[in-house]
Amino acid sequence: MICDINISGVIMMNFHILTLFPDMVMQGLNTSIIGRAVEKEYITIDAVNIRDYTLDKHGKVDDYTYGGGAGMLMQAQPVYDACMAVQAKIAERKKNTVGARVIYVTPQGKTFRQEMAREMAKEEDLIFLCGHYEGVDERVLEEIVTDYVSIGDYVLTGGELPAMVMVDAIARLVPGVLHNSDSAVTESFHDGLLEYPQYSRPEVWRDKRVPEILLSGDHAKVDAWRLEQSIERTRKLRPDLYAAYIENHDEG
Ligand code: ADE
Repeated sequence: MICDINISGVIMMNFHILTLFPDMVMQGLNTSIIGRAVEKEYITIDAVNIRDYTLDKHGKVDDYTYGGGAGMLMQAQPVYDACMAVQAKIAERKKNTVGARVIYVTPQGKTFRQEMAREMAKEEDLIFLCGHYEGVDERVLEEIVTDYVSIGDYVLTGGELPAMVMVDAIARLVPGVLHNSDSAVTESFHDGLLEYPQYSRPEVWRDKRVPEILLSGDHAKVDAWRLEQSIERTRKLRPDLYAAYIENHDEG
């Protein structure tokens, strides 16, 4: 298999986003850390306009739903052709025919979590399909989608924001994207715990002192304190995560 490698010899990750609003996606992902990661070629982001693939001479990509009901549905043909074009491009680059995963972002999907982000960060290519209107013709979903993923139990107007959320969470786990390689290890959800509280200068602010132990220089004690704080914070704020943590760390 031929991998995509940047000038530093690092394997890149490629995000392909099938959308009716490519500008929204590209603008949302071209700043800060993700923008820098694109610039440095750790990742690529390609927003593909589904409308470019419609065979309708008026550029139509939606139509009424059979059986009645409110709203319009994205039609199968342009979605399918857009996806096949991306798959063909990936196959050509990799010189193989193993299709990339296609993630349909939908409130009906499995809930996106840090663990899923970690697992997806191992892929070389990911294709996201952003729905709009009342959804997408079921037949094309059956043909192309490998993963149905939701970012939470609420309904948004389209799939672009969820796709951007997922790209951000996955991209920052790609080696090289974060400068400080530690920060992906010590952050919230590492080992199923929330992150401990952190402090910067000054030592005293509005009569509040930085916890003394953090000034001690004793790294073992600092680590122990931070773990204790993480556990306590998780117990208070996320009893669901705390219960899972206790179960996993139960000595008995
Ligand atoms: N599309 C609309 N709402 C969504 C959600 N909560 N998650 C993923 N995709 C969506």
